[in-house]
Amino acid sequence: MIKIKDEHYISEGLARKCYFHPNDNNLCIKIGKPEVEVEHLYKEINYFKKIEKKKTSKFHYQFYAEYHGEVETNRGVGFVYSLVKDETSQNISLTLRHYLEMKNAPFKDDVFVEALDRLKQQMITHKVFVGDLRARNICCKILLDNSIELVVVDGLGHRDFLPFADWFGFFAKKKVERRFLRSKMYSLSAQRDLIKRMRENGATIV
Ligand SMILES: Nc1ncnc2c1ncn2[C@@H]1O[C@H](COP(=O)(O)OP(=O)(O)OP(=O)(O)O)[C@@H](O)[C@H]1O
Ligand SMILES: [Mg+2]
Repeated sequence: MIKIKDEHYISEGLARKCYFHPNDNNLCIKIGKPEVEVEHLYKEINYFKKIEKKKTSKFHYQFYAEYHGEVETNRGVGFVYSLVKDETSQNISLTLRHYLEMKNAPFKDDVFVEALDRLKQQMITHKVFVGDLRARNICCKILLDNSIELVVVDGLGHRDFLPFADWFGFFAKKKVERRFLRSKMYSLSAQRDLIKRMRENGATIV
């Protein structure tokens, strides 16, 4: 049994709290909030089981945080993932949402837009889909050469009954492009508007 303490807390979304793995600083453990249905938590896990045979060595970069299975913790069942960290500082990478709201962000908007395009291409090429594509679910990893890689940390999967996109490149491309358009993941000003509206509507987690 892994003992998670308050000091291990990293951040949270609507469904889960995210903690440092107490025994491995390259991993994090996510724990479902009590009010969240277990079924909801397993949607993403089941998708990870579907994609676990993908040859990650063929990826241009590891564009999603890998899932490493379940563990028992003092706070209930935990789901273990790779922790996304900046190479420059070894700090946990901030999300795209953090950078959107930063006064003096260290990267220009164009840099993020280019990185989003690289993320999109990887998703198309490797047929990995993200249903919940949002700024808070994408970590921005800073590399040693001061370039960035966008890494999806939450929201992987799709609910297609007949998963043509899993089988055919044409459908994969259409699916990913549609998702980026619907989520407005093509411009940072569109993302800022989205977040502003969410805050105006009273959302605390945006
Ligand atoms: N693998 C990771 N590496 C670094 N930070 C992470 C990682 N996973 C999650 N985080 C941080 O923890 C936050 C919450 O995690 P996560 O998005 O998985 O929770 P959630 O409740 O499923 O979110 P949502 O409300 O979007 O459904 C993220 O927004 C991010 O800041
Ligand atoms: Mg999230």
